[in-house]
Amino acid sequence: MTAQLIDGKAFAATLREKVADHVAHLKRTHGVTPGLAVVLVGDDPASQVYVRSKQTQTLVAGMHSYEYTLPSETSETDLLGLIRELNADPDVHGILVQLPLSDHIDEASVIESIDPAKDVDGFHPVNVGRLATGQTTLVPCTPMGCLMMLREYGGRLTGQHAVVIGRSNIVGKPMAQLLLRENCTVTVAHSKTVDLASLVNRADIVVATVGRPHFVQGEWLKTGATVIDVGINRIDQGDDTTRLVGDVDFDTAKDIACAITPVPGGVGPMTIACLLANTVTACCRQLT
Ligand code: GUN
Repeated sequence: MTAQLIDGKAFAATLREKVADHVAHLKRTHGVTPGLAVVLVGDDPASQVYVRSKQTQTLVAGMHSYEYTLPSETSETDLLGLIRELNADPDVHGILVQLPLSDHIDEASVIESIDPAKDVDGFHPVNVGRLATGQTTLVPCTPMGCLMMLREYGGRLTGQHAVVIGRSNIVGKPMAQLLLRENCTVTVAHSKTVDLASLVNRADIVVATVGRPHFVQGEWLKTGATVIDVGINRIDQGDDTTRLVGDVDFDTAKDIACAITPVPGGVGPMTIACLLANTVTACCRQLT
């Protein structure tokens, strides 16, 4: 192993401590406790795990957590009604509706119904537009966590060539915007990209967010690249057990990269820590 391991778990713990300090400060100076409302529709087990973790960490940081678990048959009208109430509630500074939603609910309508000032996911078109035009805004949590780690471990970002593999609204596209804002030269690749290996071979920074286990091979990488692996893929070990792996083939990549995030313990823990940070940011902006 030659690459430096980017310890997202430790990084996230430090960020959560900073958030908790900020929360305590807000309570002392303004008598305000930031509040995060998390809405879960249905009983998808993976979503339940994420939501539970968000709620626990919100409380540990000293914030209020408001939880809404709705049955899977909840109508879009009822969900929009709840969001309208949360938008109007002064104790709620951040609103997160866990995705994906059931097929009978239009995701875009739900996202657009959230007050952009409370949109701690940074998914509302107003916030997406602000990010794309270089304005201060609430930024999606996963790419925000990736950028924090790149700033710490990726050296001077200006002028570096970053290849983002994946073009989702949640990670790939906002990641590209954030790297542009850092003066990187950014290429967004995806499942239809031709000759991905030689593209990746020219990258100083690789962010993999394709959702395919071990997709990016170590031999594709340029020596000394910084590698951020957003993938969380559960694979069968063949002995009734499963294991979490990333989108990057860690075992081959670690000997070529200069720094790399492990899976688990890399990007994953940063996402919720950034959600807490966004909730405090949203709260502060609502004070003024
Ligand atoms: N589902 C998977 N990731 C996310 C996320 O970052 N935010 C929300 N709201 N749902 C998700």
